[in-house]
Amino acid sequence: MKSLTQEKINEIRNSVNIVDVISSYVSLTPRGKNYFGICPFHDDTNPSMSVNNEKQIYKCFSCGATGTVFKFLMDYENITFSEAVKKIADIGGVQVEISEPRKIKDYKTQHDIYDLSLKFYTNNINTTKGKEAKEYLKNRNIKDSIIKEFEIGLALDDKNTLSNILKKKFEMKEILKSGLVGKNDYGIYDLFSNRIMFPLYDLNGKVVAYSGRIYKTKDNSKYINTRETEIFKKGELLYNYHRARDIARQKNQIIIMEGFMDVIRAHTIDIKNVIATMGTAVTKNQANLIKKMAKEVILCFDGDEAGAKATKACAEELNKINVTPKIIRLEENLDPDEYIIKYGKESFERKLNNPINIMDFELEYLKEGKNLENSNDKATYIKEIINEINKIDDEILKEVTIKKIVKETQIDEDILRKHITKKPKEIKKEIKSEKLSKYEKAEKCLIYYMLKSKEVIKMYDKKVTFMPTEEYRLLAREISAYYHEKKEINEADFIDYIEGDEELTNTIKKVNIQMKKETYTIDEIEDYIKVIKEYNINNAIERMQAKMRETIDPIKKAEIAQKIIDLKKGV
Ligand code: CTP
Ligand code: MN
Repeated sequence: MKSLTQEKINEIRNSVNIVDVISSYVSLTPRGKNYFGICPFHDDTNPSMSVNNEKQIYKCFSCGATGTVFKFLMDYENITFSEAVKKIADIGGVQVEISEPRKIKDYKTQHDIYDLSLKFYTNNINTTKGKEAKEYLKNRNIKDSIIKEFEIGLALDDKNTLSNILKKKFEMKEILKSGLVGKNDYGIYDLFSNRIMFPLYDLNGKVVAYSGRIYKTKDNSKYINTRETEIFKKGELLYNYHRARDIARQKNQIIIMEGFMDVIRAHTIDIKNVIATMGTAVTKNQANLIKKMAKEVILCFDGDEAGAKATKACAEELNKINVTPKIIRLEENLDPDEYIIKYGKESFERKLNNPINIMDFELEYLKEGKNLENSNDKATYIKEIINEINKIDDEILKEVTIKKIVKETQIDEDILRKHITKKPKEIKKEIKSEKLSKYEKAEKCLIYYMLKSKEVIKMYDKKVTFMPTEEYRLLAREISAYYHEKKEINEADFIDYIEGDEELTNTIKKVNIQMKKETYTIDEIEDYIKVIKEYNINNAIERMQAKMRETIDPIKKAEIAQKIIDLKKGV
């Protein structure tokens, strides 16, 4: 997968200082030999991430995130390894020719088909045949500059122009895969016609699908979307992500809307840190993308009942990953597009500057359709609210809400509090549930120091024949093999060397959790090795004992017994 040699990758990595690069994303303070900052890869409150100037790696002792400057960029900016290398090479002034990442390469034909279709559609709208579509957009207050920026196009009246263009350049198999063309007894035909074409982009900003809107007839489907293809997975992308990402990071605020027309409208009033979910429930994948974009997440869905439902569902998905979004509700069932047109920029900005908190939204939402004078309704209401309070982890917000409910419903505060539980923190839960056995801990520590010292690798080579846990075994072997090839161990080099191997990378992450110490003593290493050996011997004894139980022949039984005695001496 890597198109560059390990040496070149190392050269590029060494052309910058990781401390400088990370400081441009996270504020770092020097402490001792290292720099510390808030870890951007988990819900961090204390600075748990250290950046090591000497080793040129970062490490979070809370969530285990670790890597070189490349890995940092990959995870922070959601880019591929090749893209990260390219970026660093640019910063460090190293000349490189990097071929496209594999994913894009594999689907190159599909992307070429989309590039061509985009040229076709965007051209159509500027021809005489596009007059009516232009008129429609003009009536909706969409200027030419916006049409250009969002690459809005037009699928024409007939059903074969695009098919014919594609036929000349691409293989039939690829054309049919694209989702732009259908096939019947007479041949292939365009799936989109008579629609204004809004391109949908993947996370890198490549056009991978369309949403086509009717604009003259009264068809019953307002929008038709490209079906899912190998390059278009609706649940993995967010409309406008590639344009909004950097601005959202700078502002540390991301606004989420339902429709792409809403996003386009927000752009026209210079609000650009905005993305759209495009009318589907937010997936876990999308929630994680959102979490990485900014700390402040604002949901601004349609003002109608469906919008309130979608707000609730989205908030719930975000809550699961400890993101507490803020909410904007629009009056008169308006969507953001309509609201901005009707009430203007200032009015919308006022809303944006005063979002309501998630609990106030819940209170209103749950009250809907209930009569609090009615005891049944009131009890249901209280139970539902308790349920919601228990889902969030903002202690202050919890308190404020409890007080509100007590005041509103006159329920006894102590009774209410009996039903309030503490939401377990994701990370803490992970660490707790991962109560390591003595053996696992020894394996973990041994590997931790193998990554730092060839002395430890040599001890491992000489004395450890078998690591009990598979993932640690694989990682230890890889480190040892790496050392034998390179005759040295440099943690940063090694991390880049195994880049792309998800299993090994995850194991390294696990190894780092809760490990802060950089130095070790030989006695300590000897101890870890002893524990691992002990585990192996105990295991062997158990196997022998099982064998003995199955053996009938007394001579063989005696032999096995002797073996067990010998083994026990080793413990
Ligand atoms: N959507 C869809 N298919 C539909 C309706 C909606 O895919 N039949 C998606 C579109 O991505 C749209 C989003 O859901 O952007 C929100 O839908 P809606 O609120 O109905 O669209 P609007 O943004 O209001 O679009 P318009 O103003 O053009 O009516
Ligand atoms: Mn609308």
